Amino acid sequence: MSNYVKIFDTTLRDGEQSPGATMTSAEKLEVARSLARMGVDIIEAGFPAASPDDLEAVRRIAVEVGRPALGAKEARVPVITALARANKSDIEAAWEGVKDAQKPRIHTFLATSAIHMKHKLKMDPEQVVERVAEMVAYAKSLCEDVEFSPEDAGRSDPEFLYVVLGEAIKAGATTLNIPDTVGYTTPEEYYSLIEGIIKNTPGMHDGITVSVHCHDDLGMATANALAGIRAGARQAEVTVNGIGERAGNTSMEEVVMSLKTRKPVYNLETGIDTKQFSRVSKLVSNYTGIVVQPNKAIVGSNAFAHEAGIHQDGMLKHQTTYEIMRPEDVGVNQTQLVLGKHSGRHALRNRLAEMGHALDEVELDKAFARFKELADRKKVIVDADLEALIADEFYRPRDVYILDGLQVTCGTMGMPTATVRLKGPDGKIHLQASMGSGPVDAAYTAIRTIIKVPNKLLEFSVHSITEGIDALGEVTVRIQAKDGDRKTMDAQKEIPYARVFGGHGADSDIIVASAKAYINALNKLIVAQTEGLNPTHENHAHGVMLG
Ligand code: KIV
Ligand code: ZN
Repeated sequence: MSNYVKIFDTTLRDGEQSPGATMTSAEKLEVARSLARMGVDIIEAGFPAASPDDLEAVRRIAVEVGRPALGAKEARVPVITALARANKSDIEAAWEGVKDAQKPRIHTFLATSAIHMKHKLKMDPEQVVERVAEMVAYAKSLCEDVEFSPEDAGRSDPEFLYVVLGEAIKAGATTLNIPDTVGYTTPEEYYSLIEGIIKNTPGMHDGITVSVHCHDDLGMATANALAGIRAGARQAEVTVNGIGERAGNTSMEEVVMSLKTRKPVYNLETGIDTKQFSRVSKLVSNYTGIVVQPNKAIVGSNAFAHEAGIHQDGMLKHQTTYEIMRPEDVGVNQTQLVLGKHSGRHALRNRLAEMGHALDEVELDKAFARFKELADRKKVIVDADLEALIADEFYRPRDVYILDGLQVTCGTMGMPTATVRLKGPDGKIHLQASMGSGPVDAAYTAIRTIIKVPNKLLEFSVHSITEGIDALGEVTVRIQAKDGDRKTMDAQKEIPYARVFGGHGADSDIIVASAKAYINALNKLIVAQTEGLNPTHENHAHGVMLG
C-alpha cells in the first residue's frame, strides 16, 4: 500500500456551504490558486447544480487552475472535481463545470443510512443500490475519474455499505469516500469502518482509493480522519481552518501537521507545502469573514504563543520544551524580509513575487503607492503587512462604493461623531455625518445612511496584524441581508436563507479599517443582489504564480 495520502480540499464546496462562508467567484479562484500552490492533490471547486453562479465559478477554476499556465515549465496541476447528487442533471452540471480541467473528476453521492433512506430519500435499500450503480455508470460515461460517497456512512450498516460500494466499483468509481456526515463516530468505530470496507467490499483492488471525510460535531473530525488513514484510507477530504457545515469539516492543517509531526507513528506523507498554512488560513478567513479562534491548532493566533512564566522560561532554555512544531514550518514568524520607506519598487516586486503575488505594472504601481503610504506611518514592514495590503487593495469584489474620506471625533467629552465621504457607483460623492455609541458605530451609521441596503451586522472583530503601536489593524465583519431582501435557495438543502457576506479591511487606523471592512461586505451584498455572485467585472485580475 502506498504511503502517500492525497489531500482533497473541499473548502470551496463543503466549506463554502457553511453559513456565511459565501465567496465571490474571484475569491474562490484566488483560494483555488493558493490551494494549487500549496500542493493540494484534488480541489473540490463547488456544487454546480446549486446555481449558474456556482457552475461558472467551477468552470473558471477548471480552466484557470486545473490547467498548466501557458509556457509553464512545471505541469503539476491538481485534479478539479465538483459535487453532484446521484441524478443525471446534477452529474451533467458537474461535468460541465470540470470538463475543461486537465484532470477532471465527478464526485457523486447518495445517502445509505437507514435514517436518510427512510426520511430524506424515501427510497428502500434496493432502490439505493440500483441508483448508485446507474448514476456512477452515467458519471463514468462522461468522465474517467469518478468518486462515489455513501452519505452518512458513519451511521450506515457496514454490511449494506459493502454492497453499495461494490456496485460503485463495478460501475467504474475509483475513489470511495466514506463520509461521517454528522460527526457521529468515534475514532475506534471509524477505524473499523474503513478497515471493514477495505477488507470486505467486493471488487476492492489496489487501484481504488478509499477516502476519509469527517465532520466535527463532537470535536473528533481530525482524530477520526487520522484513524481512517491508519486503517488504510489514502485520501483525506479536508478544509482550510476546518470550515464547513455546522461544527465544520476536518481541518487540512491539523491532518497534514499530524502526519508530518508524528511521522514515526504514521509513516505517511502528503505533498503539501506546510509553510503556506498561515497565509492560506488568513486568506480564507478574510474572504469568508469567519474568524479563526485564537486557540485553533496550527493556525490560531495563540498556537505558538507562550504566556505562562514556566513555559516562557522553558522556551528561553530550549524551543523544544514546549513546541512540538516549529512555527516557521507552518508559515508563522517566517524569516521576514524587512522593508522600509527607503525600499524601492524592485524590492517590493521581488518580495511579492516570492510570496506568490505576480503583479503587472499597473497593479505594482498601486501596491507601491500603498506601501509608501504605510511606510510613512510604520517603520518596518513585514510579510504580514504586505499580505494585508495586497488583500485590501486587490482581493475585493468590484467597488460599488469606495471610502473617499473619514473623520471621527470621540473621547470622553462628547458624543462620538463620524463624517464619512463615499464615492458612489456613478462617481457621485456622498457625504454624511452621524453620531453613535462609539466611533465605529458612528461611522457605520453614516455608511448605512448613504448605502441604503438593509442588513444586519452579525459579527465584528478587530486585531493587529503585527506587534507594536504602529501595527496595521485588520477588521473582519459579517453581515446578513435583512429579511425582505432577496432570499436565495440553497439548492442542495432546498431551504431559503438570507445570505451572509464577509468583509475585510486593513489600515493603520482601526476606524478606517472598520469602515473599509463594512463597505467591502456591503459591496459584496450589492453585487450579489444585482449581478449574482459571479459578477462580470471583478476588482482585480492579478495572477498568483504556481510553482
Ligand atoms: O458530509 C458529507 O456527507 C458530504 C458528502 C456530500 C460528500 O459532504
Ligand atoms: Zn461533508
